[in-house]
Amino acid sequence: MDAEHIDGDLVEILYTEKDIQNRLRELADEVQADYEGHDLLLVGVLKGAVMVMADLARSFDRHVTMDWMAVSSYGSGTKSSGVVRILKDLDTDISGRHVLIVEDIIDTGLTLSWLVANLRSRAPASVEICTLLRKPDALQMSVDVKYVGYDIPHEFVVGYGLDFDERYRNLRCVGTLAPSVYS
Ligand code: IMP
Repeated sequence: MDAEHIDGDLVEILYTEKDIQNRLRELADEVQADYEGHDLLLVGVLKGAVMVMADLARSFDRHVTMDWMAVSSYGSGTKSSGVVRILKDLDTDISGRHVLIVEDIIDTGLTLSWLVANLRSRAPASVEICTLLRKPDALQMSVDVKYVGYDIPHEFVVGYGLDFDERYRNLRCVGTLAPSVYS
């Protein structure tokens, strides 16, 4: 879906479909260079990372495998607490493997910190993180994020997998949601 079909719901388009494709291609080149000669498992976090995973994975000129996790974070309102429950676990045994977590956006990073600790306890060869978007609070995270598409301001964004109330995930671009939509 293009932004014209939700006329007025976005205050601003931050990244077009083309911007995102170009940036993911650059990230894929970086990842490819870093993992040369090693097997690589991409782990996507449902549901937001679906679009990033689909396009990142297809930007590689090498074999990668994909697996998925779904987690739910307990919290009050819109803030995550870091207390996490696994709704769907990996199908793959990751011991001895190089794992790259693929994310759409990192806000506080609480859920992700938990996920990294959980995956590291399974004795993988390595665990790194790749995210399309990162908000300022994530810089206080104890876990390093190796690959970042764009650092964005502290605003609520939708599109390209990111939702508000499960809508806008199928928007091709990423944009800032108009406050009138959620107030
Ligand atoms: P964290 O644990 O605070 O990093 O929460 C990250 C999760 O919150 C993401 O995977 C998204 O599901 C959601 N989230 C955070 N910021 C936004 C946003 O601007 N738009 C849509 N979802 C967001």
